[in-house]
Amino acid sequence: MEVPMHDTDRKNIIELRDIGQSYDGGQNWIIKGLDFLIEDKPAQGQFAVILGMSGSGKSTVLRYIAGLQQPTEGQVLISGTKADAKNRVSMVFQQYSSLPWMTVLDNVALGLKFKGVSREERNAKAMELIDLVGLKGHEKKYAQYPTLSGGQLQRVAIARSMLANPEILLMDEPFGALDIRTRLQMQELLTDIWHQFHSTVVFVTHDIREAVFLGDDIYILKSQPSRFVEHIHVDLPLQRDNNIKRDPRYEELVREVEDAMLRVADME
Ligand SMILES: Nc1ncnc2c1ncn2[C@@H]1O[C@H](COP(=O)(O)OP(=O)(O)O)[C@@H](O)[C@H]1O
Ligand SMILES: [Mg+2]
Repeated sequence: MEVPMHDTDRKNIIELRDIGQSYDGGQNWIIKGLDFLIEDKPAQGQFAVILGMSGSGKSTVLRYIAGLQQPTEGQVLISGTKADAKNRVSMVFQQYSSLPWMTVLDNVALGLKFKGVSREERNAKAMELIDLVGLKGHEKKYAQYPTLSGGQLQRVAIARSMLANPEILLMDEPFGALDIRTRLQMQELLTDIWHQFHSTVVFVTHDIREAVFLGDDIYILKSQPSRFVEHIHVDLPLQRDNNIKRDPRYEELVREVEDAMLRVADME
């Protein structure tokens, strides 16, 4: 199945057109003919998940969207204009992307500092977010391991990204390094926060259950060369908590995505 370029009258917030990537002057193409399109849904946002095997180009796609890398060929458009690092895009990486030489409070407030918001106001806003992600009482601590746990450091990174109020939030396997209990907590926390911010989230994982729990739409990358080959719409309620995992439809979707991943693996 081709990824539908579901063109409606909505404008597109993210559009990758016929992307190709070569690192050796065009002898080998790591990515070829890759299309990706996410519509803008103002005051609703959306949660797109990219699934793919290791090395399939997931992180590269996020770097294009963030304007951190230009593809060898093709176009990357954010709200209709060429992607660059000045767009309102935030990224959370797998390894703790908080700044260890700053306190939790300063980490979370950082995005507002760049925008010239007064210290008083940015600290007040940062404290709201710190409360929201369950870190109240830790705000004066340095954002470093082992002062804070891995899960707490990822909360700092998520709070900072959210407070920067990005139109697009990119998350590259952000819970990959966490133990299972913390990971499940973080998944629930993220869906909660997302409902308050309505950002467009593009979330990368190779965990199928995580993809179905979090995503509205799941896009699967095949590799060698990479392009999107499957799109699965997740028809679960938008507001979810861990109980949804007992819903038979959740299990059915997990199996559908597993089957799709196997079909993709057979193509490689
Ligand atoms: N600078 C580079 N030079 C050569 N190959 C690269 C470079 N950057 C990434 N790649 C290759 O591009 C492919 C996709 O990488 P990546 O986007 O990191 O995959 P994923 O995040 O899905 O694991 C990999 O095969 C990787 O080896
Ligand atoms: Mg990666």
